[in-house]
Amino acid sequence: MNDSSRWTRRSVMALPVALAAAWRPSWAQAPSFEVYRDPLCGCCGGWVDHLKAAGYAVSVEERSDLTPLKRQLAIPESLWSCHTATVAGYAIEGHVPAHALARLLDERPALRGLAVPGMPIGSPGMEGDREELYEVVGFDGGRRIRFGRYRGNRQV
Ligand code: CU
Ligand code: CU
Repeated sequence: MNDSSRWTRRSVMALPVALAAAWRPSWAQAPSFEVYRDPLCGCCGGWVDHLKAAGYAVSVEERSDLTPLKRQLAIPESLWSCHTATVAGYAIEGHVPAHALARLLDERPALRGLAVPGMPIGSPGMEGDREELYEVVGFDGGRRIRFGRYRGNRQV
């Protein structure tokens, strides 16, 4: 390989990296969430507001029974919370903070989705008089990873 062909090869390989850094399409910055919620549950609305405040496009579908959807999305029952959402092929269960969602959408790990099981006080949409420590769990079938540990909206 002579000098010019090496230069060309290196330039071609570097080009997508340079483009990715300079040009981010709007849909890459603001992926769209589909949120499924029980119309009678107020904290779900609080979480939707949290997503919108973080700059995400959100559409909401009200369902009185979310159990079939949670099963269809392969969300383990032990991780269930109130609302369920989908984004970029992931299943999102419960009051997952926008900080963790941004990391998920940036890193795109091989997971089925993220969950905050139960309804921890202080998580986005569940603001109260205190902030419990809670975990964001990454799941995929029977596999679980600790994706992050949070208090309120802050990773700790
Ligand atoms: Cu809730
Ligand atoms: Cu909810």
